Amino acid sequence: MELKISLLVLCCILPAISSQLRVGFYSQTCPQAEAIVRSVVQNRFKTDRSITAALLRLHFHDCFVRGCDASVLIDSTPTSSSEKEAGPNFSVRGYDLIDEIKKQVEAACPSTVSCSDVVALATRDSVALAGGPTYSIPTGRRDGLISDAAEVDLPGPSLNIEDALPFFTPKGMNLNDMVALLGAHTIGITHCSFIGDRLNNFEGTGQPDSSMDPALVSRLARVCQAAGGSTDPPIFLDQNTSFVLDNEFYSQVIKKRGILQIDANLGAHRPSAPIVAKFASNGDLFKQNFVNAMLKMANVEVLVGNAGEIRKNCRVFNPKSTTSKSGPFKTPPGKSPSKPPKKSPPVKAPVTPPKKSPPRKAPSTPPKKPPPVKIPVTPPKKSPPRKAPVTPPKKSPPRKAPSTPPKKSSGKKPIPPRKKKSGSKKRRQSKKAGQPNN
Ligand SMILES: *[C@@H]1O[C@H](CO)[C@@H](O)[C@H](O)[C@H]1NC(C)=O
Ligand SMILES: *[C@@H]1O[C@H](CO)[C@@H](O)[C@H](O)[C@H]1NC(C)=O
Repeated sequence: MELKISLLVLCCILPAISSQLRVGFYSQTCPQAEAIVRSVVQNRFKTDRSITAALLRLHFHDCFVRGCDASVLIDSTPTSSSEKEAGPNFSVRGYDLIDEIKKQVEAACPSTVSCSDVVALATRDSVALAGGPTYSIPTGRRDGLISDAAEVDLPGPSLNIEDALPFFTPKGMNLNDMVALLGAHTIGITHCSFIGDRLNNFEGTGQPDSSMDPALVSRLARVCQAAGGSTDPPIFLDQNTSFVLDNEFYSQVIKKRGILQIDANLGAHRPSAPIVAKFASNGDLFKQNFVNAMLKMANVEVLVGNAGEIRKNCRVFNPKSTTSKSGPFKTPPGKSPSKPPKKSPPVKAPVTPPKKSPPRKAPSTPPKKPPPVKIPVTPPKKSPPRKAPVTPPKKSPPRKAPSTPPKKSSGKKPIPPRKKKSGSKKRRQSKKAGQPNN
């Protein structure tokens, strides 16, 4: 009975929510918005093709933590750690590009286009530039009022499919969607430190991962050894068509040339292997599924109507919204606001949406309890607490969350913590240096 009721509610609420987003949301209020985004992304792509992978990862991080609300863009303050402080943030890039776009969009239409839409649109445009599908995406997202490092809980590069899937299902994505999203690895990169275990000592065996093509193992081992630990060389996740958003990644996986453990797993296990085969053999089918999955992801827990705000600076909450009641800034340092303010009345009145809104998800009322971490109890809704590192559907997998100890015992000590000693700053630099075309 209860189940029936909640299903009913779901069926009626979900459509209402998504109806808040629509293609061309800014056509009246900022007709040039999408063109501005496209042109800035195009310019960047000319000198840095890796921007597509960066944006895919940024978008993924945004949507998987508290919904697509641009919470990932918020800078930390002396009193609060934003999502950027979380372990998985290491390899996220592209903030500067978003700033550049936002600046131009603000100049054209002040306080009209949300940062979350900028991220979604920029990602979409970069996908097309990389040879991926061209498609329309609904807009009308609003920016969130909370960004808390403690809420970051993303799947890592060493997960197997069974463990990774629970990160996706609460977001409305199924196995097929997950496999399609991981196709973004076709343009992704990782770094030697993330695959050291597969190359040298897989799960404590003292041997490389036998599921990886031995020729590839030796080649990568040479590359990584040559660096001698002084740098952390980038490794393409698709060793064949590394900069093209195509279905070649799946073919590589089938050839045992998947780079990350999760990629190898994808091709080796029953539930996902048939999907990998399907995508490998039909590029159009992959693109279709990729678009569907991207659209689903871009729709995760979006804020619409009067919820949230339209940030003026993507890195900072608008001052006004924070002065109302108890805005995010008022929350004690570092701690996640367990009871955030209900949608604070956006002082700036929605410039755009003429729609009334049944916000299914009040912006600041997270159904989620703050500590997203540790010990799960049930993998139900939101985020499965696995400690898990992080895994991006795209490029490079950051290592697992800093403080949590590896749960898998077995001598699996994958990533040599070598970079750790130099501190995060150094690490960040080396990643950056490692980025192709940076
Ligand atoms: C990522 O988080 C670390 C702390 O864990 C922080 O020092 C670093 O500045 C963050 N990176 C970015 C890009 O904000
Ligand atoms: C690289 O990709 C092309 C087409 O995408 C394919 O025909 C070729 O066999 C691939 N090469 C390798 C070594 O996988």
